[in-house]
Amino acid sequence: MHYEYGINTKLVHAGEHSSPDMSALAPPIYQTSSFAIDELLPSGIKRGTYIYSRLSNPTLTALELKMAALEGGNAAVSFATGMGAISAIMLTLLKCGDHLIADRVLYGSTYELLKKGAPRLGFDVSFVDTSKPGRVAEALRDNTKLVFFETPANPTLKLVDIRKVAAVASENGAKTIVDNTFLTPYYQKPLELGADVVVHSATKYLNGHGDALGGIIVSSYEDAISIRKGVLRDMGAVLSPFNAFLILRGLRTLGVRMERHTQNATELATFLKAQKLIKRVFYPKFDRNLERKPDLKAQMSGYGGMLAFEIRGGVDAAITFLNNLKLCTVAVSLGDTATLIEHPGLMTHSVVPKEDREILGITDSLIRVSVGLEDVVDIKADIQQALDTV
Ligand SMILES: Cc1ncc(COP(=O)(O)O)c(C=O)c1O
Repeated sequence: MHYEYGINTKLVHAGEHSSPDMSALAPPIYQTSSFAIDELLPSGIKRGTYIYSRLSNPTLTALELKMAALEGGNAAVSFATGMGAISAIMLTLLKCGDHLIADRVLYGSTYELLKKGAPRLGFDVSFVDTSKPGRVAEALRDNTKLVFFETPANPTLKLVDIRKVAAVASENGAKTIVDNTFLTPYYQKPLELGADVVVHSATKYLNGHGDALGGIIVSSYEDAISIRKGVLRDMGAVLSPFNAFLILRGLRTLGVRMERHTQNATELATFLKAQKLIKRVFYPKFDRNLERKPDLKAQMSGYGGMLAFEIRGGVDAAITFLNNLKLCTVAVSLGDTATLIEHPGLMTHSVVPKEDREILGITDSLIRVSVGLEDVVDIKADIQQALDTV
């Protein structure tokens, strides 16, 4: 695939014809656990041969080539879920005694993994507000190996300057890992801004239809090889060929979907800002930091389909509002064709202790919206009628 092609061309074509059956226009689903070996050499199996689907599989290769082309990375490794990918990064790039810096505003399970799981494995974690690169610099130690954050962060939509944080980390020999699930490579390419590894929950926008779980890492060849040969091969959180096929199919329309998600989210955020019952609206386009920080603004070419807002009346008002929605679905996950709305404190981020949630802005009044592809007038009407019940 020529790297100079535009992103929509890459979305449609990159990786698609990497399978041995070149005549199939849609990538075949290699629904097989193992592969016949043509010839066994005295040194063993010839390198580059497909052997067993826990190690590699042509349908997964097509997805990995597409993702590497989209993110501008050298290689990609796919996983059964986003958490499978995130835990693989930690287990591969850290060893017992190493130190990791992470933002605290993270998807709930990532927070739990770092807060509880990492110390049990002997990793030392400092939680820092990475939107202030100076705080990252202060937290660095001789044994700091990784800096991890999401931008925009789940669920508050906090933005982090990727270039600045990556510069601080690399000056001290630490790698920067960015969870790019919310904006996708369609709107943001962290590797071009100095990050070392990009990770995705492919369950969300990449697949885009709410019918498959998956995770992807895009990185250098060296990191991808150690992640594949170590944690993927030996711990086995491998993506199924069928889910790889679904994610590949979803990716071909990522561009048109992201444009529509963004258009709908911009209109919905504007509508919510005008509502008396709504205290604050969080949407990257309306983040005041963008006026003062041109680099932060420039790192995204669009603002995506995720927004959050605080409702007046606390948790009771939030629950009444959610229980009265008719078109929008109350559900975890995001990036689906349908509008999904949730209460982070009671749902995706309930594992974060309440005291921490309050400090981080994940209040009991906060509601997160993954704005879908419906007619925005219908989404607004549903939200209006649910607000009227509060
Ligand atoms: C930003 C982010 N990263 C990672 C994950 C984990 O992904 P998965 O559910 O595919 O394991 C999620 C899930 O919601 C998420 O929102």
